[in-house]
Amino acid sequence: MTPELLARLGTPDGATALAAAADLADAPPLTAASALRARGLDPDLAAAALTQAVLRRQARTKFGADANVMFFTRPGLEQATRSVVSRRRAGRLAEGGVTRLADLGCGVGADALAAARAGIRVHAVDADPLTAAVASANVRALGLAGLVTVSCADAGTVDLSEVDGVFCDPARRRGGSRVFDPRAFSPSWDFVAAVPHRVPRTVLKLAPGIDHGLIPAGAEAEWVSVDGDLVEAAFWCGPLAGAPRRATLLRSDPPSASRPDPPSASRRWSDSPAITGSGDATAPVGPVRRYLYDPDPAVVRSHLVAEFASIVDGTLADPRIAYVYADSATPTGFARCFEVTEAMPLSVKRLRSVLRERGVGRLTVKKRGSALEPDELRRSLRLAGPEEATIVLTRVDDAPTVLFATPVPAA
Ligand SMILES: C[S@@+](CC[C@H](N)C(=O)[O-])C[C@H]1O[C@@H](n2cnc3c(N)ncnc32)[C@H](O)[C@@H]1O
Repeated sequence: MTPELLARLGTPDGATALAAAADLADAPPLTAASALRARGLDPDLAAAALTQAVLRRQARTKFGADANVMFFTRPGLEQATRSVVSRRRAGRLAEGGVTRLADLGCGVGADALAAARAGIRVHAVDADPLTAAVASANVRALGLAGLVTVSCADAGTVDLSEVDGVFCDPARRRGGSRVFDPRAFSPSWDFVAAVPHRVPRTVLKLAPGIDHGLIPAGAEAEWVSVDGDLVEAAFWCGPLAGAPRRATLLRSDPPSASRPDPPSASRRWSDSPAITGSGDATAPVGPVRRYLYDPDPAVVRSHLVAEFASIVDGTLADPRIAYVYADSATPTGFARCFEVTEAMPLSVKRLRSVLRERGVGRLTVKKRGSALEPDELRRSLRLAGPEEATIVLTRVDDAPTVLFATPVPAA
């Protein structure tokens, strides 16, 4: 798509094409394209409308009903923050005193739109002309033009003297592939890391695998999961920082949700389940106990396993492995719980004969601290029989160990 085609999608002809394409989003692409052309639609407009129809459908998991009126590029959609996360962030920014926000590298505008809905004035900037045009179209589509201005510019040229907050979610992709080296981020890490010195109320969004060594001094580093999937890290700088580390667990919006409530309504950002701490506490170490807790990845990545262990009165069986063991099954949303029924030193030969004896034909393999690949292991175990089992491959006091475990249903 080009900015010109995007502009045409905003005309009455474009609206007709989009409405027709929405009904054809599931059809094979060639059938859909010829059906639109048969209605007399210009082929370029028809193709652009079909692309939007497909992207809008895919975007519903991130944006709910808003996706039906928004515009996307494929990379823009892939990189966009899902609304359950951006909404909560916006509430926290507003409560933290941000009234005028610069969004440096706004993409299709997910974070800028959420901030505006929280009542914040936003100057959203993207260096890519099509992406900036898409963000602008989304601002109009969602009726937020009174609160958001969008410019196509390099983040480095933006005057930050007029804002009291900055959000920056640098691009971590190049030529379609992910980049992990912060030096390859765009805007560059050097630029990004300097922003909190210019505007103290700054939030940096990063990939969850970001190096803890890059956390700015005094900032809060938060890891966020949605439905148990780790989705991002965010560094909250200056007065926005709370505890040094935070693990936040969110649930995705129900599929039927239309426009969500603004964050200032009944739910506050701080209502979301979270564990906070220093990030450098160590949990006590002891033997394998009756229950094993597998903490949410946000807890593990934020180095808050010790804080979680104290919630369930738990211990580790190896100081380097983030499985927590306890004598009772405490209901918790921060981990999945398993009852350990047996522990044995890891020997594939012995495991094969035990599983044979028990007639186990279906085996769930969980692992932490083991180099064995579950699929390869299952093949070499030559499973046969009607029974099912779950095993955990891990280390106990550094010794490779297999635990037989039964999932404890969540409370
Ligand atoms: C990860 S995306 C932002 C996604 C956005 N937060 C959202 O949820 O929709 C990063 C964006 O930064 C833009 N970008 C990269 N380098 C930039 C620069 N130097 N100045 C401004 N924008 C830039 C890219 O075009 C891309 O759209």
